[in-house]
Amino acid sequence: MTEPVVLEPAEVWAYLVGRELLPADASGVVREVGDGNMNRVFVAIPDDSAIAGLAVKQAPPWIQKLGPSAPMSPERALIEARALRRFAEYAPRQTPRVLDVDPPRFAFTMEDLSDLTVLRTALNDGAGLGRTSAEVGELVGRVTFATSVAGATPQARAALLADSVNPLLAEVTLQYLLGDPFTTAEHNHHHPALNTALQKLRSDPAVRTELATLRADFGGNAQALVHGDLHSGSVMVGVRKGEPVVRVIDPEFAMVGPIGLDLGLYLANVVIAAVRAYAQGDAERGNDHVLSIADCWDSFCAAWREGWPGRVDPLLDDGWLLRHLRGVWHDTLGYAAVELVRRVAGYSHASDLETLPDPGPASAVVLGLGHKLLVDREICGSRPDPRALAHLVSTSWEAQQ
Ligand SMILES: Nc1ncnc2c1ncn2[C@@H]1O[C@H](COP(=O)(O)OP(=O)(O)OP(=O)(O)O)[C@@H](O)[C@H]1O
Ligand SMILES: [Mg+2]
Repeated sequence: MTEPVVLEPAEVWAYLVGRELLPADASGVVREVGDGNMNRVFVAIPDDSAIAGLAVKQAPPWIQKLGPSAPMSPERALIEARALRRFAEYAPRQTPRVLDVDPPRFAFTMEDLSDLTVLRTALNDGAGLGRTSAEVGELVGRVTFATSVAGATPQARAALLADSVNPLLAEVTLQYLLGDPFTTAEHNHHHPALNTALQKLRSDPAVRTELATLRADFGGNAQALVHGDLHSGSVMVGVRKGEPVVRVIDPEFAMVGPIGLDLGLYLANVVIAAVRAYAQGDAERGNDHVLSIADCWDSFCAAWREGWPGRVDPLLDDGWLLRHLRGVWHDTLGYAAVELVRRVAGYSHASDLETLPDPGPASAVVLGLGHKLLVDREICGSRPDPRALAHLVSTSWEAQQ
């Protein structure tokens, strides 16, 4: 493999003209906007507002934040572009449009979203969720139905599986989400207020078994195409012409895997945002956040029900659908639980909590919720009941006060 040429901001405009994505005589500005850890993202904004802005994402052959001493295959940019194109087939409203893919450079160009804000930032700044959870639920529902045994023929699924292998990123998830936070791994860190609770969690045999079950599910349950990293840093939100706009970005972890992974990661981060609001004394906003868990779940189920009459396998009956959705809910709670633990005890914490004057009390509630949910998912009822989860979150906060 030849080394890809790493783009620098000064080269991006000429690069886009060279790819015939901008007119040769256009002028404008380029900004590096990537605040992520892994890759580089640049936006190019033409002076002429009639020409649409563009965003270029490039994966260097290492982890961007750490540099050449931390090599990582740049293939991830191509995996991401391919996933975005598939997502756009089934959920075009919530997916940024990919305009060009450049395999030798491990780069792709998409529509510019710089008028939108990353959801985590918006929530930290006091925004509400509005329609966001419903839009995310719909995207996950539409993409997973279309790529499941109900929506895709065995031939189409075999091709999808072959096209979606993502072993490196799966390893990252196994380590940083489903591994390290449950051990005393080197890069973990936590607030001292969590010492005792964390020791309890890490020595709880029930936690070990549930974690093992999730690890096995993650590696073996090829249900549908999933985003793989669907937290509130992978959603951008804003308003255009008075209408809410929601876009899901950054599916570089995409793979064929358990559907509950996407719903669980998203919902855990909604819970974290709610706990932040409670910690700030804004119970009303916290309650609104947790109530949106139901918007997400209901839209997810609605998308499955919408696709259901057109299912490719007529021997899948309504009883199976019910059982399947229950299973997805159960998995969702499990993946939400590990995400809650990871964001207060793993390597990559949530700025929602870290930027509170004292992250201790809120982090303790998040850890307690993660532990409870992981070992006793029936605590939210034996049937999918997103309102019971919302209730559990708000009462956990109150109980700690
Ligand atoms: N199409 C776009 N238009 C404008 N800005 C964008 C676009 N895509 C991404 N960004 C900005 O760049 C940032 C980084 O993007 P992204 O999360 O895709 O990169 P990443 O390096 O994979 O991040 P991470 O390390 O979190 O995985 C986003 O948080 C957002 O602010
Ligand atoms: Mg990323």
